[in-house]
This record gives sequence, structure tokens and C-alpha cells, in this order.
Amino acid sequence: MRPESSRPIGVFDSGVGGLTVLKALMERLPNESTVYLGDTARVPYGTKSAEVVRRYSLRNAEFLLARDVKLLVVACNTASSVALPSLAERLGVPVVGVIEPGARAAAASSRSGRIGVIGTPGTIRSGAYRRALEAARPGVEVKAKSCPLFVPLAEEGWTEGEVPTLIARTYLEGLRHDRIDTLVLGCTHYPLLRAVISEAVGGQVALIDSAEATAVAVEEALRAQGLLASEGEATHQLSVTDVPDRFAEVGARFLGRPILHAEQVDMP
Ligand code: DGL
Repeated sequence: MRPESSRPIGVFDSGVGGLTVLKALMERLPNESTVYLGDTARVPYGTKSAEVVRRYSLRNAEFLLARDVKLLVVACNTASSVALPSLAERLGVPVVGVIEPGARAAAASSRSGRIGVIGTPGTIRSGAYRRALEAARPGVEVKAKSCPLFVPLAEEGWTEGEVPTLIARTYLEGLRHDRIDTLVLGCTHYPLLRAVISEAVGGQVALIDSAEATAVAVEEALRAQGLLASEGEATHQLSVTDVPDRFAEVGARFLGRPILHAEQVDMP
């Protein structure tokens, strides 16, 4: 039997977006093997109800547990915002979401205590970032805004130029007037639009990418449980529930390297 620590980390997202989190994990923890599941048959999660996203999330988690993962990363902000407590309660492995690490990083970075959060409608409606920010820094002033069009823009590769600039300015005008000093990119896709978001909100605003903060949290959780992998050949498996070719093509931009193979899995 292989040692506990050499088992892979499981990562799921609604589709390609979680690859920004996988990228951060691979950079920070190069010895760790990973199994990634993108639920491309049901994407997007951001516009669906909390109940439906919880159901999909549980099924994704069960798929990854069957692949013998030692820790589960909920790489999707929408899924983290509504499903984390129920997953943590039901699963027998540690579960790390993207909300708390991102909120903690933002709370530590802000000087004024005026923090903006952008995400999908589901994430913003859940209030999860607001609660996490208030817990991390009592008295913080949180300004939240959903920016649903950023998801298709990032997937289409429209990350610069007139159209994304105009959309970003329109969404973020209010936050600019709120004089926030820190903005949480509370969706897997938004780091790809970092330049236009920064321009729209004001260059002096610090942008917090939950992906990097999540990789740090995963490292801490593995260390605490004595589960950090020792040096060896790390393997990375990518699975999707539909259209693996498009996942590979679009996902390469999110992962920052070519995707040679994504396995299609059947999940009713
Ligand atoms: N991965 C989702 C998130 O971070 C964005 C895409 C979707 O709506 O499914 O919230």
C-alpha cells in the first residue's frame, strides 16, 4: 500500500476556472500529485441556486474520494461559498475552499479596512466573502459586486481591448467611488482579467488572487496532518464531464501550459 502522504490532492471546479488554483498548487507544492475534475457538463455554477450547486459539489467530491485523494480543494468560488460546510461535515478528508484564504489575505493587505469583492452572482448572493472578511477583520467595510460577464470573456480569451475594458469600467465604477484599497478577485476566472480590472478600479487598489492564498492554506493543512508528499514523481490527472477538447484548448490559458490530455468521465 502506498503511504498516506503520496496520495493525490483532489481539486474540483465547475470547469476550466479551477485550473488557476491548480496552477498555484503545482507551483507551490511541486511534489504533490493531483487529480482535477472540471464539471464541464454543468458549468456555469455561478448562476445556479445554492441547493443545486451543493448537490453537484457533493457528487464531484465523491468522484474524487473514489480516486483516493488525501485532501480536497474546492477550487470554485461559487461551490466554496455554498457547499463547504456540508462537504467538510460529510467527507473523511480535510477540505480546503478558496473563500477563507482569499478573505484572510485581503484582510491582511488592506490599510483602510474598505475592501471590495467581485464574484459570480451565486458567490456574492451567498455573503460568504463578507462573513469571512468580517471574521478575519472585525469592523471591515465590505463592498460587493457580481460581474457575470467576466466568465465568458475570460473563456473566450477576450482579456484586453475595448470590450473587456468597457465592461470592467461599467461593473466597477461603483467600487471605484467607494474608495476601496483592496479588491478580492472572488472567481476563478478573474485573474485572467487582472489588467482591465486594475485599470477600471484604480491602479492603487491591491488585487487579491484567492488561488495563491489557497495554495498556502493547502500546504498548511497538509503539514498539520503530516501529509506533505516527499520528493518523487508528481503526476497530474485531468478529468471532465463533457467536451474534453474545448477544456484542453481553453484550459491551457488558465493553467499556463499546454494540456495534452483530459479524460472524459461519465457522471449522471
Ligand atoms: N468557477 C466559478 C467560480 O469561481 C466560475 C464559473 C462558474 O460560474 O461556474 O465561481
